[in-house]
This record gives sequence, structure tokens and C-alpha cells, in this order.
Amino acid sequence: MTSAPDPQTLVLVGPMGAGKTSVGRRVARRLGVAFIDTDKRVVAAHGPIPTIFEAHGEEHFRALEREAVATALHDGGVISLGGGAVTDAGTRELLRDHAVVYLLVTPEAVAERILGTGRPLLAGDDPVARWTEIFEQRRNLYDEVATVTFDTSRRPMQRIAEEIVTWRREQR
Ligand code: S3P
Repeated sequence: MTSAPDPQTLVLVGPMGAGKTSVGRRVARRLGVAFIDTDKRVVAAHGPIPTIFEAHGEEHFRALEREAVATALHDGGVISLGGGAVTDAGTRELLRDHAVVYLLVTPEAVAERILGTGRPLLAGDDPVARWTEIFEQRRNLYDEVATVTFDTSRRPMQRIAEEIVTWRREQR
């Protein structure tokens, strides 16, 4: 599917717990456009994420995610991606030429956001250590796709959403 960049479309990327969904929803409301969460679309079409990982593995999940990203870009709006979407070269290619906001967060700030959330990649004794390890593996990929970066560690999601909307309006 081709996706000619829609000037209204904005994509949010970043690690698990960075606030992509809560910020994305607020940004969409303020801009008066649709909000799309690609994880939710994958779940609606294929069932729970932990079950997909268990039954078919991560690679299969990345393919379903890539499809969901392509459809979302076609539909347009504010689109929040799962934290690992950028690991897929095909998904990164889809993001080229789109406005991509990278939401960054520190391990200290993310701790309370990720505990007990059932994310399959953070299963185990020390979810924050695992989160940090995964983030280190992916940080260059986030930088690669990002048009702009906002740190969500120490400010309310509401404020960050406002700053993104201001940035977006200055772009056009
Ligand atoms: C993942 C992040 C999750 C979800 C899946 C895999 C990842 O999304 O897509 O559990 O690889 O970082 P969130 O970033 O919304 O938690």
C-alpha cells in the first residue's frame, strides 16, 4: 500500500512507557484528527499481543505491526506505534517522509509506568533492567526515524501534548 504523506498525519514512536498512547490521544483531540494506536488494531484483528508472541514469535508480530502501520498511515491522523515497531526495516521505510515525534523517557521515570503491565518483552524479575537493555538496542533507530524529540520524563502528558501541537502548527 502506498502512503502519500498527509500533512495532517503525525506518528509517535519511542520506548515502552514513554507515553505514546496518552500523549497521542491528547494531540489528536487538540488537532481535531483521528487517533490510531497500531497495537490496538493488531489486537482487534489478531488477539492479545502476549498470545501472538507465544504462538508465533516476535517476527510474526512485527509483520502484523508493519501491516497495521501501513493501513494507519493510509487512514491518517495521529498514529501511535508500539515501542519495537522501529526495529522492522519495512516499518522504518513506511515512516520515511512522515512527521515522526520521538517520545523519550528515562529509566527512572519509566519504572512506575511499566510495572505489572504484562508486556511480553519485559517479563521476568527486573523489568526496568530489561527495558533499559532493549532501549539501548533501539535508541539509534528512534533517532533515525525522528523528526523531533520530546522528553516525557518530568512533565505532565498534557503539557507535552500542548508542546507537540505548537510544534506541529509551526511546521505548516
Ligand atoms: C513492544 C511494545 C509494545 C507492544 C509489544 C512490543 C516492544 O507497545 O507493541 O508489547 O517491542 O517494545 P508499547 O510501546 O505501546 O508498550
